[in-house]
Amino acid sequence: MFIDSHCHLDFPELAENLPHILANMAANQVTHALCVSVDLPDFPKVRALAEAHSNLFASVGVHPDYQDTPEPTVAELVKLADHPRIVAIGETGLDYFRLKGDLEWQRERFRTHIRAARETGKPLIIHTREAAADTLRIMQEEDAGEAGGVMHCFTESWEVAAQAMELGFYISFSGIVTFKKALALKEVAKRIPLERMLIETDSPYLAPAPFRGKTNEPAWVKHVAEEIARLREIPVEEIGKTTSINYFKLFKHTFE
Ligand code: NI
Repeated sequence: MFIDSHCHLDFPELAENLPHILANMAANQVTHALCVSVDLPDFPKVRALAEAHSNLFASVGVHPDYQDTPEPTVAELVKLADHPRIVAIGETGLDYFRLKGDLEWQRERFRTHIRAARETGKPLIIHTREAAADTLRIMQEEDAGEAGGVMHCFTESWEVAAQAMELGFYISFSGIVTFKKALALKEVAKRIPLERMLIETDSPYLAPAPFRGKTNEPAWVKHVAEEIARLREIPVEEIGKTTSINYFKLFKHTFE
C-alpha cells in the first residue's frame, strides 16, 4: 500500500476527473490521500472531498504564495480544524522564491498557523522554498515541535532535514526525487531514517518521471516510492509500508 500525504484534488484539473483519479489510486494500491488546503475561500471544497470519500482526509490553512486572499486568524484556523476529517494545519511556511519584497506578512501568517497547530494538537504541513533558515528559526521560536508535522515536498539539504527532524518533523519526498538532475536530493532520500519519511505527489504539480510535465495524480506516488526504493536498494513494499505507518502515526487518524 502507498499513501499520498499531499495533493490538491480540489484543483479543477483533478476535480473534473475525480472518479477516474480514485479508480487509478485503487488500481495502484494507493489507499489514502491527504487533500491540502491553500486558502480559506476554497477550503469548503477541500473539506467536502474528505467528507465524501472515506479514504480522503484534509487540512486547513493558507499557502505562503497566496498574497491576495483573506488572512486567517488563529481562532479561525482552530475552529475550522475542529472536524474529524481535518487532520492537519497547512500548508503553511515561507517562500522567498515565488514572492519578493517585504515578506513580513508571510512570516506572521506562518506564526499564526504554528499557534493554531499547537492549540489544536494537529500537525503542520510546511512548505519552504529558498527560506530554510527563517523557516527553521520561526519553527523554533514558536515551538512548532509541540505540534509536529511534515516538511512537505522536501528539496533542501541534509542539514535542514536534520534540524527539522530534531524538532520531531517528518520529511516528505515528491516526484522531484525522480528527476535525473536532483542528485543532491537523491542523496538526502538515501540517508533519511525510514521511520521519518513520508511520500507525496503535490498533484496536480510535479509529475514524477516518466510522466514529467503531465497532470500529476495521487496514483503516481508509487513512482516516488519506487525511486526511493531503488536508491536505498530495498523492496518498494518496504517504502510503501513504512511511509504508510508513519502517515497514520503523524496524522492520528485510523485505517478506514
Ligand atoms: Ni501543495
